[in-house]
Amino acid sequence: MKPVNVGIVGLGTVGGGALNLLRNNAAELSRRTGRDIRVSHVGIRRAKPDLELTGITVSNDIFAVVNDPAVDIVVEVIGGTTTAREVVLKAIANGKHVVTANKALLAEFGNEIFAAAEDKGVYVAFEAAVAGGVPIIKVLREGLAANRIDWLAGIINGTGNFILTEMRDKGRAFADVLAEAQALGYAEADPTFDVEGIDAAHKLTILASLAFGIPLQFAKAYTEGITQLTREDVSYAEELGFRIKHLGIARRTDSGIELRVHPTLIPADRLIANVNGVKNAVLVQSDAVGPTLYYGAGAGAGPTASAVVADIVDVVRALTAESAPSVPHLAFMPHAIADTPILAMESVVTSYYLRLQALDKPGVLADVTRILSSHGISIEAIVQKPSQDGDAVSVILLTKPVVEREMNRAIAELEALSDIAGPVTRIRMESLA
Ligand code: HSE
Repeated sequence: MKPVNVGIVGLGTVGGGALNLLRNNAAELSRRTGRDIRVSHVGIRRAKPDLELTGITVSNDIFAVVNDPAVDIVVEVIGGTTTAREVVLKAIANGKHVVTANKALLAEFGNEIFAAAEDKGVYVAFEAAVAGGVPIIKVLREGLAANRIDWLAGIINGTGNFILTEMRDKGRAFADVLAEAQALGYAEADPTFDVEGIDAAHKLTILASLAFGIPLQFAKAYTEGITQLTREDVSYAEELGFRIKHLGIARRTDSGIELRVHPTLIPADRLIANVNGVKNAVLVQSDAVGPTLYYGAGAGAGPTASAVVADIVDVVRALTAESAPSVPHLAFMPHAIADTPILAMESVVTSYYLRLQALDKPGVLADVTRILSSHGISIEAIVQKPSQDGDAVSVILLTKPVVEREMNRAIAELEALSDIAGPVTRIRMESLA
């Protein structure tokens, strides 16, 4: 049988990794698919990378790859959403299957892209877009297809988890760890995407669509980064038996779907609390199977290439069977995608860790508890830490679940008290039970 020709658009960390993996495992891949898979054409906009490209057509015009009649599958790994969108839509229009690692593109333009692919009868595969080498897309779309999924919670940004781990375990400075993550090829081209939770929100948007059968709605995701976290809060959380992780949470409730990324206190004895370094993990709660956990490397050349090449294998098998893959892009049939609303953050119910700087005077704690109780907020634990800078003491409170709207009002009243210094630190808390 004639080989399948792959065109790769972009040869950075992921594209270069995929090229090497296709080459290194060529014999094994041929045994798996019954076809030889060869990279026939690559498109690179800038200087030629340090890769062996003998026998491969190299174009500086990346559209030459998607317009090449000999290319069967286009791998889009340039990132970004402008040119990448054009590349993917053009490849689809030309009747080519697409493999992409581009979470931003899918979270923002996936509805348009999947509709175009369905019209044209081609497939857009995107295992590498979420959690690097962890096959969570296949899990949600196929492995858990029997279940109604209640919620999922994931550590889905390797760079952020690497930074939090190094800061906690080795006391390293934020900027220093981020620079290392960039050198290791983990970080996005713009690393604020990693540390401000935007990358995780892109991925969560995709996971939520697959879990609940809803359109991709990145604009409605609540996003909060890790840049404001202090070592103080990390160590107070540890003393209380919690770890702080940057979680993406998608939950089905009676009134809508929660879609939120923020630092989160979770009990230290949960498996996911012990996911460290660049590793990612996604915990999925489903009705029949119960909780399942998926863990592995979330970024880097090898793990991401593993997912890209697995997608190529799926498409090659479908090409060989002469039928498009039959699993719907968003796990549910396109006509059955639901219009369940995404909840605004102020309607989300969760528990909280609060840290207040209070003047060491009689009656301050009474004021604090009065305000919380007037908003229906029950206290789970309260700890006072000795003053580090003279007059103020740190008061740490853990609350029972309450709707965020009431917590916002309570925090505004707490901050208005003359005996409370500075802003109140608020970190959301989840039991993941
Ligand atoms: N910047 C991303 C991360 C790469 O750190 O998780 C993988 O999507």
